Amino acid sequence: MDHKAHGARKILEIKNHNEISVNNITYKVDSLDCDINLLDWIRDNTPFKGTKEGCNEGDCGACSVLVYDKNDKFPKPINSCLVRLGQLYKKNVITVEGLGSSKKLNPVQKSFVKNHASQCGYCTPGFVVAGTSIFYENEKIDYETIHDALSGNLCRCTGYVPIIRALMDVKNFVPPKLIYNDVITSPKIKIGNSTYFHPKNLKELKNILFNLDHFQFIAGGTDLNLEREIYDLKESNLVCLENVNELKKVSIDKNKIILGSCVSLEEFLKIAKHKIPQITEIIKRFGSPLIRNQATIGGNICTSSPIGDIAPILLTLSSEIITFSTKGQRKIPIEKFFKSYRKNILYKDEIIEKIIIHLPKKNQKLLSWKFSKRYDQDISTLSVCILYVLENNIIKEFQIAAGGIAEKPVLLKNISRQIIGKSIDTSFETLIADIKQYINPISDLRGSSEYRINTFKGVFIKLKNHLINKVNLQSIMD
Ligand SMILES: Cc1cc2nc3c(=O)[nH]c(=O)nc-3n(C[C@H](O)[C@H](O)[C@H](O)COP(=O)(O)OP(=O)(O)OC[C@H]3O[C@@H](n4cnc5c(N)ncnc54)[C@H](O)[C@@H]3O)c2cc1C
Ligand code: FES
Ligand code: FES
Repeated sequence: MDHKAHGARKILEIKNHNEISVNNITYKVDSLDCDINLLDWIRDNTPFKGTKEGCNEGDCGACSVLVYDKNDKFPKPINSCLVRLGQLYKKNVITVEGLGSSKKLNPVQKSFVKNHASQCGYCTPGFVVAGTSIFYENEKIDYETIHDALSGNLCRCTGYVPIIRALMDVKNFVPPKLIYNDVITSPKIKIGNSTYFHPKNLKELKNILFNLDHFQFIAGGTDLNLEREIYDLKESNLVCLENVNELKKVSIDKNKIILGSCVSLEEFLKIAKHKIPQITEIIKRFGSPLIRNQATIGGNICTSSPIGDIAPILLTLSSEIITFSTKGQRKIPIEKFFKSYRKNILYKDEIIEKIIIHLPKKNQKLLSWKFSKRYDQDISTLSVCILYVLENNIIKEFQIAAGGIAEKPVLLKNISRQIIGKSIDTSFETLIADIKQYINPISDLRGSSEYRINTFKGVFIKLKNHLINKVNLQSIMD
């Protein structure tokens, strides 16, 4: 179908031929005069207006769509407001209209009607998309699956109880088979002033880097696209990492996990459930499935945000970063990676290729917590990860890292030095009394410096109660 028919943006000369499939209809995309996100493009250039704009920054889920390509078994729900059209290399998209129509509702939509799960209806398409996605991947749907699946969708008027009831009420729904449309996409997509390069492997990436002076790397874009102008006014080259084979690889053995930098947070969650169950709670609270499907682990580390959720875990587990650039590879202990506020040691043409995560040994205990204003879909005010060995009340090993207590995520070696080799009773007492010596957090909108110091202190008070008085660890979260 030609997008002219739907009042498209100004059409320029078509230099390449790039396509995208929406609800099994193929559209040409490289004739647009400006860089644009998937949400705006769908609303302006297709007849599908069910995909809504709410916050335009990944927080409300009104813009949820499903995407997949020939490598995917299931379609993945994402926020269409956070992904630019040029990132969607060989992708198929399903909007709410692709899941059912008013004449033929799908079982999720029928159940929403039956259970009065919609009032003004603005959020409903997003809930139907996110809600339908769980039936592709799960045979058994329980409350927890539904809660997780909907954690990125906001409803302001119906209330969540009828929405959850509607999804619990859907029985034996086998979603229709996916049609894999072979859309034509060139590895260089020019949309407006932005050119998106899509290397398939590191060799192609190297060639691209040799030939470009100015460029920016983009993985999922969940961070970068928030910073970029909505419609890029300046010429820009975006080197997309998501389709580089080597960056999607995962290797797991007894002692370590090696993750390609473009492994998504959702995939990392699945791996963590089996290999590092102690951190699943934190990763489950990373954004929402819509964010986690798009966000990558490498992207999270490279933002070098002081409140990124993954850094404290990687620091505590003494992880290593393998980089790749036109000059070759480097191996860097993660502790040396972060330089200052949102700055790291990567050179301009250097990427994170993979991350080596050393798994906790049998005698080591790993704990991690995220403190945020809301339980779901919120950025951390403070996050802490601890690895320790306790023998006969003596702390044999202790490694602790935290986010939200300095301008970058930090490994608190001074705390380890202070308590290793000492009895837990006395060392924790001194530590708690002197906690201000070890951290100097800033005050910001998420929490004051005092709040952060007290919360950090609270971790040790509760940990001490757990280790000495055997108080249930869960109470640390309360
Ligand atoms: C609604 C919402 C909720 C969020 N919730 C959380 C949360 O709970 N916890 C949290 O920690 N973060 C959160 N984030 C932030 C963000 O989603 C994550 O930091 C994410 O992991 C970034 O990954 P990405 O692939 O999207 O990065 P991108 O946006 O693609 O890139 C981020 C930066 O890293 C660079 N980059 C990316 N990959 C590489 C690489 N391999 N090598 C070199 N440079 C690279 C890019 O050039 C860019 O500068 C949230 C964001 C949103 C919008
Ligand atoms: S418009 Fe709110 S998440 Fe996209
Ligand atoms: S039905 Fe109105 S916002 Fe959800």
